[in-house]
Amino acid sequence: MFITFEGPDGSGKSTQIKKTVQQLTDAGWEVVLTREPGGTEISDQIREVIMSMKNKQMSPRTEILLFCSARAQLVDELIRPAVAAGQMVISDRYADSTLAYQGFGHGFDQRVLKDLLDFTTGNLWPDLTLLLDIPPEKGLQRRLSNKLEWNRMDDYQLAFHQRVREGYLSLAKASPERWQVINADQEADKIQAEIMRILQDRLK
Ligand code: TYD
Repeated sequence: MFITFEGPDGSGKSTQIKKTVQQLTDAGWEVVLTREPGGTEISDQIREVIMSMKNKQMSPRTEILLFCSARAQLVDELIRPAVAAGQMVISDRYADSTLAYQGFGHGFDQRVLKDLLDFTTGNLWPDLTLLLDIPPEKGLQRRLSNKLEWNRMDDYQLAFHQRVREGYLSLAKASPERWQVINADQEADKIQAEIMRILQDRLK
């Protein structure tokens, strides 16, 4: 089973994922946790290039190809073998982030990106995707007030992040069998309870 978490910056994804993995592990599941961009030694090196505030002049097409390069390595080295071995893989972001950020955010053609992502992932798409939905102004505010690392992606304008959020919601609407939308603008415990309810339902 391959599960991904998606959401705008500052949606509280990382915290929720940590708690989810803990609960699943306590319940006896063997969980492989990874994140994007990154997750392998090579992908982490590519992440440095993508995120560095030094690279403000990076062109959006370069950005897309770097995200995809990091992802191809992660799929081949870690995700595909783990899924094939019957393990539960949870990823903090995956190919849908490219559709949301580079597609809806930067305005690249969805069909072109979808073909590129099929190639990048060797057609490996998640069984379940949980979208932690939050208005971007709240998400970015949370990121600032928690003094989390501010990276080049956070630095894009609010309008960009608004398009990302709307993009996620339309992806979820288009494939309701794969996506579950969770309101992330509420207390952390409530969000966690909702995540576990959805997972328990799927894992029955
Ligand atoms: P990260 O610090 O991991 O943020 P988060 O905690 O929000 O996941 O930064 C990842 C950033 O990269 C985030 O702004 C989303 C962006 N991103 C893309 O634009 N495209 C992609 O394909 C991926 C995987 C991430």
